[in-house]
Amino acid sequence: MIIAIDGPAGSGKSTIAREVARRFGFAKLDTGAMYRSVALAALRRGVDLDDADAVVALARGLSITFGSECHGNVSVFVDGEDVSEAIRTPEVDRNVSAAAANAGVRAAMLAPQRLFAEGRDVVAEGRDIGSVVFPNAELKVFLTADPRERARRRVLQRHEGEHVDAALLDAEIEQTLADIERRDAIDSQRAAAPLVCPVDAVRIDSTSFTVEEIVNRIERLIAERR
Ligand code: CDP
Ligand code: CDP
Repeated sequence: MIIAIDGPAGSGKSTIAREVARRFGFAKLDTGAMYRSVALAALRRGVDLDDADAVVALARGLSITFGSECHGNVSVFVDGEDVSEAIRTPEVDRNVSAAAANAGVRAAMLAPQRLFAEGRDVVAEGRDIGSVVFPNAELKVFLTADPRERARRRVLQRHEGEHVDAALLDAEIEQTLADIERRDAIDSQRAAAPLVCPVDAVRIDSTSFTVEEIVNRIERLIAERR
């Protein structure tokens, strides 16, 4: 069985996918980590993200693999190096959508994404999972949440376990809101596999629901599909 979870930045895709994977013993595929890995490699090697051909050549040459879970996330390796933390910096956040808008980069990511799901149950999350990567997925979920709430959650996630002054948090939420709205706009408006809600997806607005409530809802949807 394949479960596709798509949605904008900070809507809860990774967290929900992780819980679904745990509860049902599915493998979790984080496709955003693959585009982040391409952006990181381009930044490190000084490849201009506007040079489409150079970025495609770079992406084709990368070996992106997934390891075991660390701090609740599946670790990501590029050419054998653990880049799990390096792909989550603000610099990668700012540049990843440019790498992901490149049609050749997307084409290079498609085969490994499909290969990952061969012969096993998978919950995959990203932007084009239900529309392009796994159009025949048994269950498609389109996860949304109010943009300000998504920014608030992302900032709290970043500072988990730390004490941060309330005024600083508010300022960071405003900045994060602007960043994710910019990224959502690029992801939704690009020509290659834009972020869309597939017609056959179940749309879930997570703004006022907990992770557990949403996972319970997905559990019921899985039971119906089975
Ligand atoms: O966790 P967050 O929602 O902030 O981002 P992510 O899922 O790690 O994805 C990072 C970026 O990769 C997105 O903003 C998209 O530009 C791109 N992406 C994509 O184009 N297609 C996917 N299937 C997954 C991610
Ligand atoms: O993967 P994506 O960018 O869509 O979002 P995420 O990284 O899974 O979620 C961002 C933050 O929102 C995490 O800290 C989640 O625990 C939190 N979250 C929440 O508080 N309530 C939800 N219903 C969903 C996510």
